[in-house]
Amino acid sequence: MKDLGAKPEELDPIEIASRDEISDLQLTRLRWSLTHAYTNVPMYRARFDAAGVHPDMLPSLEDLAKFPFTVKDDLRDNYPFGLFAVPRAQIQRIHASSGTTGKATVVGYTRNDCDVFADLVARSLRAAGVRAGDMVHNAYGYGLFTGGRGAHHGIERLGATVVPMSGGQTQKQVALITDFKPDAIMVTPSYVLNILEEFQRQGIDPRATSLSVGIFGAEPWTNAMRREVEDAFDMHAVDIYGLSEIMGPGVANECVETKDGLHIWEDHFYPEIIDPATGAPVAAGQEGELVFTTLTKEGIPMIRYRTRDLTRLMPGTARTMRRMAKVTGRSDDMIILRGVNVFPTQIEEQLLAVAALAPHFQIELFRSGRMDAMRVHVEAHPKAADADSKAAAADALRQKIKDAVGVSTEVVVGDPGTVQRSAGKAQRVVDTRTGER
Ligand code: DLL
Repeated sequence: MKDLGAKPEELDPIEIASRDEISDLQLTRLRWSLTHAYTNVPMYRARFDAAGVHPDMLPSLEDLAKFPFTVKDDLRDNYPFGLFAVPRAQIQRIHASSGTTGKATVVGYTRNDCDVFADLVARSLRAAGVRAGDMVHNAYGYGLFTGGRGAHHGIERLGATVVPMSGGQTQKQVALITDFKPDAIMVTPSYVLNILEEFQRQGIDPRATSLSVGIFGAEPWTNAMRREVEDAFDMHAVDIYGLSEIMGPGVANECVETKDGLHIWEDHFYPEIIDPATGAPVAAGQEGELVFTTLTKEGIPMIRYRTRDLTRLMPGTARTMRRMAKVTGRSDDMIILRGVNVFPTQIEEQLLAVAALAPHFQIELFRSGRMDAMRVHVEAHPKAADADSKAAAADALRQKIKDAVGVSTEVVVGDPGTVQRSAGKAQRVVDTRTGER
């Protein structure tokens, strides 16, 4: 694989500024953001007043912990534009996420917000090893989802060539990658597996493509998956993180030279990790729920937004900005099975260690008598799809999950192609106990 690491002179100076410089900038910007929210958004004013806090009460960054949290329901309750901090006419772009239940959450960006968004995706791409003049195949979905357009403008901002393919039409994805010869691909990790499968189906060697890096995000994925994809395509695989409430893709990104967690672009987002049960800050380096405060966002400032994503913070390495570990999962996706916490990423990790199985999976939760039970649907690797191999693979996975995760599960090994495929975010859990996800 190519050496794609950036040289110091290619970076924004703030990426490798001293911690003191970064903290000073954060404090100045945080005071501005709290004031902007308090002055222009009735919900924040009411909340801050009720909690007895005011934007002036911020002698240090740590004092942010006195301010109230914001949650996804606040966006729903203020649907559609109630949290906008500027007149609607100053909003240049709107995105929304539908979620699985309830009203869409709507976000709006001013011209300046769109600019920052493009700059930070460009910075993320550079961290991933993409440069001006490269070509990027963008298979994140376009539309209300922030993935497609968010990536698109960042690719352009970097001076690279964008192929605005969007998600779906897997045969065409393969044709364009083969014909246009892009240097990089941006896509969800679950969908790149479908693209991989289509290469194999057409008898094209995926290791022979022009791709030298893939930038994968929008859903959790493991280092085991990284190895799988890197090996399959002979390219680097790096992680991009983000969420529409805070911006979209490019809130944090891994550096290709280290692949050791995602540097949070701390000049625009202030991270905290809290205990999801109590809301209290956790000890440094401990895992908990990631909370973000936007530092420069005009359209919808987000103050202490609870992401529900579980991770931990680590000091900087390739950049001085702090890193977040790969997201283990969302607290909403945590399965509690007979007292044991289980995340889909743990199943992914075990699955990828069984060579006779393909990397696709879905977890079904169901009632077995009065107990909750879990069934893992996987499929045989095309080269090991006979009945004996399938039975052996089922046993192997069941045992691995029991040993590593500590729960007993059923494992169903179907024929190749039987597990539901996604063209964007995969639905990892189907809960038949309630009929909901
Ligand atoms: O998924 C933005 C995005 C698009 C990020 C493309 C990366 C690439 P939402 O649809 O609002 O925004 O979903 C945000 O997706 O809270 C996480 O739970 C999950 N997520 C996003 N990136 C990652 C990642 C986009 N790299 C939600 N690892 C977040 C794990 C991720 N989970």
